[in-house]
Amino acid sequence: MDRRIHYAPFAEKIMSPQLAAALIQPGMTVGMSGFTGSAYPKAVPLALAERIEAAQARGDKFALRVLTGASTAPELDGALAKAGGIDFRLPYQSDPELRARINRGEIDYMDIHLGQVAQYTWFGFLGKIDMAVVEVSAILPDGRLVPSTSVGNNKTWLDLADKVILEVNSAQPQGLDGMHDIYYGTALPPNRRPIPLVNPGDKIGEPYLQVDPAKVVAVVETRAPDRLGRFAPPDESSRMIAGHLVAFLQHEIKVGRLPAQLLPLQSGVGNIANAVLYGLRDGGFQGLSAFTEVIQDGMLELIRSGTIDTASATALSLSPEGVEEFGRNIDFYRERIVLRPQEISNHAELVRRLGCIAVNGLVEADLYGNVNSTHVAGSSIINGIGGSGDFARNGFLSCFVTPSTAKGGAISCIVPMVSHVDHTEHDVSVIVTEQGLADLRGLSPKQRARAMIANCAHPDYRPQLEDYFDRACRDSKGKHTPHLLAEALSWHQRLLDEGSMKPLG
Ligand code: COA
Repeated sequence: MDRRIHYAPFAEKIMSPQLAAALIQPGMTVGMSGFTGSAYPKAVPLALAERIEAAQARGDKFALRVLTGASTAPELDGALAKAGGIDFRLPYQSDPELRARINRGEIDYMDIHLGQVAQYTWFGFLGKIDMAVVEVSAILPDGRLVPSTSVGNNKTWLDLADKVILEVNSAQPQGLDGMHDIYYGTALPPNRRPIPLVNPGDKIGEPYLQVDPAKVVAVVETRAPDRLGRFAPPDESSRMIAGHLVAFLQHEIKVGRLPAQLLPLQSGVGNIANAVLYGLRDGGFQGLSAFTEVIQDGMLELIRSGTIDTASATALSLSPEGVEEFGRNIDFYRERIVLRPQEISNHAELVRRLGCIAVNGLVEADLYGNVNSTHVAGSSIINGIGGSGDFARNGFLSCFVTPSTAKGGAISCIVPMVSHVDHTEHDVSVIVTEQGLADLRGLSPKQRARAMIANCAHPDYRPQLEDYFDRACRDSKGKHTPHLLAEALSWHQRLLDEGSMKPLG
């Protein structure tokens, strides 16, 4: 194993994952690293899961409150959920085992804007953090920490936890050193000052994380790669979505509402948002920038092709091929990528100052532009709101992209009334499906409904939606946002009863 621990007091704390896991007690609140499958601790949670299973087998309850940056991987969320070791979880998650248990009501899950987790913790809203378990890529001779492939909430966990376990992962590229910007200037109200960032690439902090050495109770050496998820290759539908969005952005440049280099892009998680980025590459843009949350393969490709000059994010979230490309050309990418704490990458003040163009995926949107990004049929969660709300509320443009139907056409993603609201009609400017683009800016609710049906709905569902809207305009008591409430909800009930929104009869 190459040596990554250059601070003697921490070298003395090196121990096995089992001994480190034994320092975590039932009922603790544990802040762990990890953001969209990158830089989560890879050994201590697995050892902890074994310990929890042994305790449960003896009839002893052993569960934790687990806080992270965002989603992690089977070695953390999956293993701990399977062992019955999570009582409470926040913020974003995407692990199938954890998701199933949340949806069975066995685990309490709090879905919170990713940009707000750190300040929630500092405000004291989440109680005391007993333990931090944080992956880093190296420890410097003076005890400062070289962050790994994501920063997430690590600064906050290290600052606020009573005790700290460090995992030093020698599989992470050493070339990450110098890619991070950790801002130590945040304060609590009423003492907050403006954050001095005016361009996506600005460095306003320092490259390393700090930790009080007295708090570090264990150091564990690992050599394991991040979880390497693959993206679905762009299909015809996502290429059409990208085409509509690119044409819209080009039009906005032409009429003078956007500069030729656009404004900093934010691109959400998921296959569709990733595919849209490939579409931007073909749109002829040059010299763009990104102020976003994760760098997926599509974003890496835009940087490689020179479409994007500078990208700011909190995490890498790459496929195996993306990781290889990143590792091969890490010096090139270090000049162009800045990884920051998620309280900065997703900060409302900065998203608004920079005027981000937000592009996020959705589960369903309604006629009036309300967006559900998280729930199926109102009650089962898929992942979580992630940072989409940080950008949708505060961006210059808030675009949502989706195929017009899901599950092979059995479900319309455009519905009369969303079954769960993540982004209200007030935070949504543009909705794009493979059918077309609805520009909702400056429109009243009824004008928005007409644009959604005509431009975004699939032709198979258009007649149903038109019929609903016409009858709602006629029979709804209030005519401002016309609705037939029982019918709007029965639309979703049909999905639960029959797994389909196809016309009845
Ligand atoms: N009803 C039921 N299921 C639906 C659905 C609907 N209306 N719309 C989509 N789905 C399902 C899809 O069928 C798919 O499930 P499957 O893999 O079992 O078939 C799953 O949701 C993902 O859909 P997909 O079309 O592949 O889109 P995606 O990978 O782009 O993900 C979201 C879409 C909404 C799940 C994803 O963007 C997300 O989690 N967003 C919230 C967080 C976020 O925006 N973060 C960005 C902040 S930077």
